[in-house]
Amino acid sequence: MRTYLVTGGAGFIGSNYIHYMFRKYDNEIRIINVDVLTYAGNLENLKDIENRENYTFVRADITDKEAIAKIFAENEIDRVVHFAAESHVDRSIKNPEVFVKTNVLGTAVMLNCAKAAWELPDGSFKEGKKFLHVSTDEVYGSLEDDGTYFYETTPYAPHSPYSASKASSDMLVKAYIDTYHFPANITNCSNNYGPYQFPEKLIPLIINNALHGKKLPVYGDGKNVRDWLYVDDHAKAIDMVQENGRLGETYNVGGHNEKQNIEIINIIIDTLLEMLPADDPRRALVSKDLITYVEDRKGHDRRYAIAPDKIKAEIGWEPETMFKEGIKKTIAWYFEHEDWMKNVTSGDYQKYYEDMYQNR
Ligand code: NAD
Ligand code: TYD
Repeated sequence: MRTYLVTGGAGFIGSNYIHYMFRKYDNEIRIINVDVLTYAGNLENLKDIENRENYTFVRADITDKEAIAKIFAENEIDRVVHFAAESHVDRSIKNPEVFVKTNVLGTAVMLNCAKAAWELPDGSFKEGKKFLHVSTDEVYGSLEDDGTYFYETTPYAPHSPYSASKASSDMLVKAYIDTYHFPANITNCSNNYGPYQFPEKLIPLIINNALHGKKLPVYGDGKNVRDWLYVDDHAKAIDMVQENGRLGETYNVGGHNEKQNIEIINIIIDTLLEMLPADDPRRALVSKDLITYVEDRKGHDRRYAIAPDKIKAEIGWEPETMFKEGIKKTIAWYFEHEDWMKNVTSGDYQKYYEDMYQNR
């Protein structure tokens, strides 16, 4: 049975990926999820799979060499899928250092431990071992509103401390590929949305604030463009790259779904009003009058847009979920998981680990 070591699996994309993988492979794989549970890690995201015999959670910091080496020593790991990171641009502007520690040093530790576990005496690597580094399109910098795209060959030009730290981590992975022929791939993906996303990011923040009649903050002129991808499509791309991609290659993953932030906010309000039942008291709270223009983010990248031509041509991956459908699925999920949102906003979600794991 193939064993996956997933880092950051209690976060937004990592938990969706773990669900996707169990739906796809069921008992054919084993997953070890290593996560230190920062504010962004939430084990409630995984409560429906936590009792599976082929799933193990390990609370550890990816910058802790000994803890990570121990996992490799005690388990024959076949695949690493590396999500763990500090991921929010606004936080990186306020406090860059933790981004460097987790995103750069943490990636170095993951690479080094995987290399030590997988390397043979002649410097080659054990058959079939693969490391996938999950990265972002933000490493390429910012595009003008001129119809150009990010390709795998676009030079790196990060602006925020977040994207600079992710760019550095990508460079380390590339250095391992070039220096040691380390069996790795990098995926650079556009903005994701879907279930379990922490409400500091645009889409869940707008859904949650609108349902509570709170202001909807729009940075700057609201015309910054992001290319939104439904999170399951990202999970599928990661799996397809790891299984069918050429080792050593980078693949851009994007939704072909560019939208201005103000368009996203308007779509969310229209969709909420379309989906809320006529007698739901929250209908009275949801309104475009809540839209509030606020001071712009420092160094705010204007536009991101991915050309996913390479992954389509080489691997056959394409985004499947249209934004109209994806946003309805996402809103329906937040409607059905009011408790999840309440626990996140109250901070109660951070007690889940103690309740479920420490007291076993
Ligand atoms: P997230 O912030 O929701 O989750 C990050 C997870 O990593 C959390 O569970 C957190 O506890 C864990 N973590 C943080 N520091 C850790 C450490 N030192 N040791 C162990 N675990 C640690 O992030 P996300 O949105 O799910 O993003 C996952 C990955 O995908 C990141 O690498 C991010 O750069 C990348 N990415 C995200 C997006 C997006 O739109 N969210 C788009 C492209 C790429
Ligand atoms: P975000 O979800 O933080 O993702 P990223 O910065 O990684 O792209 O933000 C998406 C866009 O929405 C970005 O242009 C900033 C903007 N934004 C707002 O206008 N208001 C908000 O409250 C937030 C969180 C983001």
